[in-house]
Amino acid sequence: MKLKNTLLVAVALLVILSLSACSSSKSTNQTPLEKIKEKGTLVVATSPDYAPFEFQTLVDGKNKVVGSDILLAQQIADELGVTLEVSSMNFDNVLNSVQNGKADLAIAGLSVSPERLKVFDFSKPYYQVGNVLLVQKSDVEKYATVADLDKADLAVQKGTTQETYAKESLSNANIVSLVQMGEAVNELKNGQVKAILLDSAVAEGYISQNPDLAIAKLSFEAEEENAKAIAMTKDSGDLKKEIDKIIDEVVKNGTYNQYLEEAAKYTVVE
Ligand code: ARG
Repeated sequence: MKLKNTLLVAVALLVILSLSACSSSKSTNQTPLEKIKEKGTLVVATSPDYAPFEFQTLVDGKNKVVGSDILLAQQIADELGVTLEVSSMNFDNVLNSVQNGKADLAIAGLSVSPERLKVFDFSKPYYQVGNVLLVQKSDVEKYATVADLDKADLAVQKGTTQETYAKESLSNANIVSLVQMGEAVNELKNGQVKAILLDSAVAEGYISQNPDLAIAKLSFEAEEENAKAIAMTKDSGDLKKEIDKIIDEVVKNGTYNQYLEEAAKYTVVE
């Protein structure tokens, strides 16, 4: 009788142990895509200071994050059948938040770079831009070669590929890393910095709002053309596959260009 009881307890314990092992292995074996579908939300990290990709505007008196990247994020959430949650932060935190699991994706006008590819998976590119130098209109002729930047205060956004590039290839300038793009533009307008290195599409947006600004003569080689893509954790497997499929559609049928047109209708608030 006693032996039978002990056996029963042992069997019961085994059942419990194997059941719990099963359920815990289920959650750890979940793919990134399964995890997102199970929680029902897609958390997207972004830095809304980069019109037309992502920026703040006023909708019914309230600040709202809009832009072509946000429309892309919404399309992805819709196709995955989950709710979009946009998580705004400074650009230099965007990739960290994917790395530490706080966000599922980073969509922030992100350029693919060899350094970033070591740490993250990137989707297929969805847009191409080039680096340009934004200056005061009166300085348009002044900056035509890299040598013209000697000792000039050159602003870049902290944590960007432009910061890396400037430190490597424009180190004759005095590089000023600023957290917010709006801050850099204010410093340019009031003469605290002489130029900003940034993406062409973003520079054009600033010029349309600020007739006192222009793109300098100095141009950057084609290899500095950068492809915008979505970042996710390494080995994202099925998630990357799904996102690449959506990007294929959105790029091929011109939807991303429509997103850009849509974004241009909003006024940027800083
Ligand atoms: N091309 C740059 C990068 O990937 C700039 C992106 C800045 N994005 C932003 N939302 N402020 O590093």
